[in-house]
Amino acid sequence: MEPSFPMSSFLSIVFALGLILGFSRVSFALENGYKISHRKLVEPGPSCPLNFDVFRKMVVEGIPRPSFRDVPTQCNYVLEGIRVIRSEYLRTDGYFLPPSSTTKVCWESYRLLVSDLVSGFDIELACGYHPEWVSESCMNISSGSEFESLIPESKLQEVRCYCNQSLGNSTSCALCKENLGSLQASYLSGSGIGNASDCAGYSFMYAAGWVNPYGPTDVATAKCLFSLDFSPHHIRNKRYKILISGAVLGCVIGFFGAFAAAWFLWTRHRKLEREMEVCAKMETSLDSGFGSMTGSDTLVKFKFEEIKRATMNFSRENIIGQGGYGNVYKGILPDGSEVAFKRFKNCSASGDAVFTHEVEVLASVRHMNLVVLRGYCTATVPMEGHQRIIVCDLMPNGSLHDHLFGSVGKKLSWPIRQNIALGTARGLAYLHYGAQPAIIHRDIKASNILLDETFEAKVADFGLAKVNPEGITHLSTRVAGTLGYVAPEYALFGKLTERSDVYSFGVVLLELLSGKKAFMAANGPQALLLTEWAWSLVKEGRPIDVVDEEMPELGLTEVMERHVLIAVLCCHPVLESRPTMDKIVKMLETNLPIPSILIASAAL
Ligand SMILES: *[C@@H]1O[C@H](CO)[C@@H](O)[C@H](O)[C@H]1NC(C)=O
Ligand SMILES: *[C@@H]1O[C@H](CO)[C@@H](O)[C@H](O)[C@H]1NC(C)=O
Ligand SMILES: *[C@@H]1O[C@H](CO)[C@@H](O)[C@H](O)[C@H]1NC(C)=O
Ligand SMILES: *[C@@H]1O[C@H](CO)[C@@H](O)[C@H](O)[C@H]1NC(C)=O
Repeated sequence: MEPSFPMSSFLSIVFALGLILGFSRVSFALENGYKISHRKLVEPGPSCPLNFDVFRKMVVEGIPRPSFRDVPTQCNYVLEGIRVIRSEYLRTDGYFLPPSSTTKVCWESYRLLVSDLVSGFDIELACGYHPEWVSESCMNISSGSEFESLIPESKLQEVRCYCNQSLGNSTSCALCKENLGSLQASYLSGSGIGNASDCAGYSFMYAAGWVNPYGPTDVATAKCLFSLDFSPHHIRNKRYKILISGAVLGCVIGFFGAFAAAWFLWTRHRKLEREMEVCAKMETSLDSGFGSMTGSDTLVKFKFEEIKRATMNFSRENIIGQGGYGNVYKGILPDGSEVAFKRFKNCSASGDAVFTHEVEVLASVRHMNLVVLRGYCTATVPMEGHQRIIVCDLMPNGSLHDHLFGSVGKKLSWPIRQNIALGTARGLAYLHYGAQPAIIHRDIKASNILLDETFEAKVADFGLAKVNPEGITHLSTRVAGTLGYVAPEYALFGKLTERSDVYSFGVVLLELLSGKKAFMAANGPQALLLTEWAWSLVKEGRPIDVVDEEMPELGLTEVMERHVLIAVLCCHPVLESRPTMDKIVKMLETNLPIPSILIASAAL
């Protein structure tokens, strides 16, 4: 039912659920306060220099919230919690990560802390053994000064201008985050997620620990930069009501009001800035150098008429894609840029608040292997019903599906395929581990992998299963996804984790390698699954036979075989046996050994 979806989803988003799962345990938490430090005394060897007590205090003083719905969300909050603690360490000691000799002790302490605060929640059981969360670095940066020496002074000043203030109101928070996002995109994502796994967290830890005057343990800072909400009890209830009525009002007034307010705040903000000498200097550089970037970084609300004009009244010739959600049209904006419009079917106005919120979240997710969301439109049009449209950059080379199975005549060469595999993996790894909050794509398939002018892969439609009115509704087990690509546990039990995306990625990778569809036409009446076919070849020790031999510029046999093995591993029926997306990126980039389960079973 649609009405239940917006509200519950809205709540879960607005409250950015804190770390507290089990309310009952909160009162115990204080009593257990000594447990960890006691342990430290007993254990020989180095002790963990991270200050867990400040975090404990935040959690205990904050208000308990409804429990999380799924494990990936829980694990994401656990990860954000570590970032708060690391950021506090940066503030007090100047380092992003504790010495490597203490990684294990720190992980163990954190695990204890979480199981104390959240009754029965064992990180290792739920999220896996990830001591690197405690000590993961980005581009080998370990101290705050190293970080500052890598980033141009002008960019740092920009960050100081926006983040050196209370982040308690949504405008200041959004501006600060936008700046951190662009800092990360320009200076920290160079080497990708490969050997630099926590680049996504670095700029945020830096801002909270070194720039913000209140520090990471401030409720507003934690909420803004780490999506952790620790508002004290009494304030929270009031805020809750204000937020709800605010949301309802917001729907009524529409976004013009919000835009006007944002504009007002923004102009006031700029006025304030002008008074600050440092920022004045920054502004000139903004106007000259960063102008276009900040301009296009904001989400645009389009008018329905504009879109109608751009697509020649949704003409049939402009349709470039069709799916369960609706049609995708290409069009040209008045400024001459080509964009894609995704028009959702069967919408009603009641879901607009959630839709807009989701779109804003998705627009803030930026990575070179993800399609950029430019804007959206919601409108009720007489005769045509309620409209919901999102606007994305148009990709000149269409989708991977077009190239593998469609009209495009020339086959993709091996180097291009290899790069598409890696790009797609990086984009997905970013959704799972870099985006805040983490995003499960749910509908990875060849037609959602788009190719830009240089055939760089751009993952499209991430997070859209959530905004689609026919998609997943509150606590329902209905599966969003496309047959042939959906992981068995998700299809059968509606169990959704980031490993379901890994499965779908594996299927796409097999399609990319073999040039065959997820559902293969067999000689007999029943269709054969590509995954089963590939697995049978791998079992027979012939992984190379999976590869499309008509592909131009074939690669080295062992490299192509590696790709097949990785793909088959991703499609493992047991979700725990599938690697994580960041592990996959590492396996694709390097010679990291492929886990032995596969080798062992393949040898049989
Ligand atoms: C990460 O990769 C870059 C370039 O590939 C390399 O120079 C750097 O040493 C690597 N860092 C780590 C920590 O492996
Ligand atoms: C990372 O930096 C440390 C010192 O800060 C150095 O010892 C180490 O070799 C570096 N690692 C890489 C891979 O560059
Ligand atoms: C939000 O923050 C800005 C900048 O600090 C400030 O000027 C503005 O008054 C704040 N707005 C509200 C509603 O508190
Ligand atoms: C933040 O602003 C205050 C005063 O407005 C200043 O004293 C402080 O040095 C600034 N911090 C940073 C990191 O720029």
